[in-house]
Amino acid sequence: MVTVRALVPSDAPASSAIHLDVLDMEFLARCGPGFLRAYHRAWMDSPAGLALAAVDEDGTLAGVLLGALDPAVHFKAMVRRHGPGLAGWLLIGAATRPSLAWELLTTRLLRYLRGVARMARGALPRRRRPTGPSPAPPSPPGADRALGTDPARAVGEVTHVMVRPDSQGSGAGRALLEAAREAGARAGLDELVLVTPPDMTAGDFYEHLGWRQDGSLTSRSGESFVRYRLPL
Ligand SMILES: CC(C)(COP(=O)(O)OP(=O)(O)OC[C@H]1O[C@@H](n2cnc3c(N)ncnc32)[C@H](O)[C@@H]1OP(=O)(O)O)[C@@H](O)C(=O)NCCC(=O)NCCS
Repeated sequence: MVTVRALVPSDAPASSAIHLDVLDMEFLARCGPGFLRAYHRAWMDSPAGLALAAVDEDGTLAGVLLGALDPAVHFKAMVRRHGPGLAGWLLIGAATRPSLAWELLTTRLLRYLRGVARMARGALPRRRRPTGPSPAPPSPPGADRALGTDPARAVGEVTHVMVRPDSQGSGAGRALLEAAREAGARAGLDELVLVTPPDMTAGDFYEHLGWRQDGSLTSRSGESFVRYRLPL
């Protein structure tokens, strides 16, 4: 029997260990365990983030879902509150692992630097800025899967669903997605979206739970994803 509750900071070692274990092919996992712990804590601290824990009967963490009820507010908060800390972990990772340094340099560094410059411009005193909409915040690592959503609709995102290998098949994944659906409906969202790599079997899992495939996309870092939607 699995129950779902909010993920709390003391879960971070276990939740990031699950992440490292079951999504080891992700760029985030290659950033190392320290980065991942900080990343999960940052997610829990976000006002518009969705961070859920599935726990089994003895209270052990069986699975984790990360998402956002308002992705723009969420990623802005991640960058403002935790950007420097996460960047520090990235630098430590890059300094100790040449393969990560090369990957950062060739696929992400320019984009991150442009984002930091945009944010620095946004921090200038108001009268020195031209009028118009606020600059977009830099995307934090992991936020580079442009989901192709319609700005007229209230759309939430599920970015990660991960269940401990020995708990897979226990209903944890279903319980996490059901809790995300309920949270999205409570927040008045029109739909939830997610993307998953085409070579994973998770697509069948999402379709089994009522999500509908809606095309494919390539992230700003060049990775391919299949997009799924769940109307609420
Ligand atoms: C995919 C994953 C989240 C599913 O979680 P889970 O706890 O094992 O799944 P559940 O036990 O809740 O399964 C719910 C239902 O989906 C079905 N299902 C589970 N995995 C499936 C799959 N890969 N394909 C098709 N159906 C699947 C189950 O049979 C079950 O059906 P039922 O309730 O009608 O009997 C989990 O296997 C996992 O963490 N995998 C590795 C990471 C991953 O792929 N994450 C998603 C991409 S980000």
